[in-house]
Amino acid sequence: LTSERYSVQRLPFSMVSEEDLASFECIIPGRVITDPEELEVANVDWLRSVRGCSKVLLKPRTTEEVSCILRHCHQRNLAVNPQGGNTGLVGGSVPVFDEIILSTALMNQVISFHDVSGILVCQAGCVLEELNHYVQDRGFIMPLDLGAKGSCHIGGNVATNAGGVRFLRYGSLRGTVLGLEVVLADGTVLDCLTSLRKDNTGYDLKQLFIGSEGTLGVITAVSILCPPRPKAVNVAFLGCPGFAEVLQVFSTCKGMLGEILSAFEFMDAECMQLVGQHLHLTRPVRESPFYVLVETSGSSADHDMEKLDGFLEQALGSGLVTDGTVGTDQSKVQALWALRERITEALSHDGYVFKYDVSIPVERFYDLVTDLRTRLGPRVKHVVGYGHLGDGNLHLNVTAEAFSASLLAALEPYVYTWTAAQQGSVSAEHGLGFKKKDVLGYSKTPAAVQLMWQLKALLDPRGLLNPYKTLPAHL
Ligand code: FAD
Ligand code: MLT
Ligand code: ZN
Repeated sequence: LTSERYSVQRLPFSMVSEEDLASFECIIPGRVITDPEELEVANVDWLRSVRGCSKVLLKPRTTEEVSCILRHCHQRNLAVNPQGGNTGLVGGSVPVFDEIILSTALMNQVISFHDVSGILVCQAGCVLEELNHYVQDRGFIMPLDLGAKGSCHIGGNVATNAGGVRFLRYGSLRGTVLGLEVVLADGTVLDCLTSLRKDNTGYDLKQLFIGSEGTLGVITAVSILCPPRPKAVNVAFLGCPGFAEVLQVFSTCKGMLGEILSAFEFMDAECMQLVGQHLHLTRPVRESPFYVLVETSGSSADHDMEKLDGFLEQALGSGLVTDGTVGTDQSKVQALWALRERITEALSHDGYVFKYDVSIPVERFYDLVTDLRTRLGPRVKHVVGYGHLGDGNLHLNVTAEAFSASLLAALEPYVYTWTAAQQGSVSAEHGLGFKKKDVLGYSKTPAAVQLMWQLKALLDPRGLLNPYKTLPAHL
């Protein structure tokens, strides 16, 4: 078997036999799925750009069941593809060939929540939005939020080290995740599920699994620190006349809003056009080349509004912003956020999407977008830039009528060399998965990549967990 578009060869893993299915049926009775319709969904990624041909989907409920499954797979040399909500954007969540799909969909129980510390412990398959509702009812929020919240699992978020729109305020999962329970490739349960803020006893093993994209172990439970629910949330949606002004608005925001600034997102005019065209969302301010979304979260509505008013007066008065609107009630806040959060969805309706997710110095942020518009010309539909400007993370997306190898050749390695020349990251938050595994070397040294392979060999000597993903071919 060879995957045509990517020219990958199937590694010599065993094929799932009737006996294997019978063993799985003993471990998880009634939850061994071989129904072609259900498998079709699990074999295709969210972007519909990577498709595997797995014949079996397993749905364990407990850590013990995951452990028994992996022990069996290890003994039988069967490859496994861990899957959460299948919202990943780099083809890591679906099999490349016939890997067994191990889904966390039924591992959706909250284990404990402490309403003084705000520490939540839950199974890996809890849906992010459901967790947010759960902790909100108790006066807290999840430290991360992203457009895929309605489907993505917390285990998938941890496995990809997802960033999202709260990163600016609450930081990386590397800080907010306090503990993990992980099942290793041979079935060993590694219990690092502590709920301690401070713990310097030996190496911090959980960090190995955060962002490891299912290649080092299956995350079965997560302990995570939730911040208190802000009493006041305001969103300002602003139009800017140029990218230089976008950067000045960011500096002004940091200076004037300081501790209440909770998000700073940006999108260009083409993004706004696409959310209008494909999702029928209406532009809330006059047309501008750029738009920014500024969110404040604080404990006093009057104090926050006073600060926000001061900032808006300054930004409008100095011409940094040409038009703006503010949402204070939940429905307007959500409507303004939808303009930014649903860009991904709008792009998916526009055609084939070439997605790039880079960290580069904000001063050079938009140069990459304009460079590519010139380079690609009329053979593409749109070249758009949006993203988490406050975190230095640009989402650069190109849409075309269909996938084309010549277009891909015009984009890659150009985008990667451009990024590497800025000492940037070729994958800021989505990970490498299947689609980007070969570009790791643009952001990491050969010695670092070598050590990654050594860690993989140590934890998964047979290479059974998410093969063909994350790491490039051996040096
Ligand atoms: P999946 O897609 O199922 O899997 C992702 C990877 O993690 C795969 O390699 C899989 O094998 C592995 N994995 C999943 N569960 C486990 C587990 N329990 N143990 C071990 N490995 C596991 N990402 C961001 O960082 N920021 C964003 O703002 C953002 N916005 C998004 C918006 C949309 C509309 C969409 C579709 C995606 C977005 N993403 C974003 C991509 C992001 O990676 C995912 O949404 C999310 O983190 C993946 O979670 P999931 O449960 O869907 O994982
Ligand atoms: C976002 O910030 O919207 C997500 O990372 C998804 C994307 O890049 O399209
Ligand atoms: Zn993002």
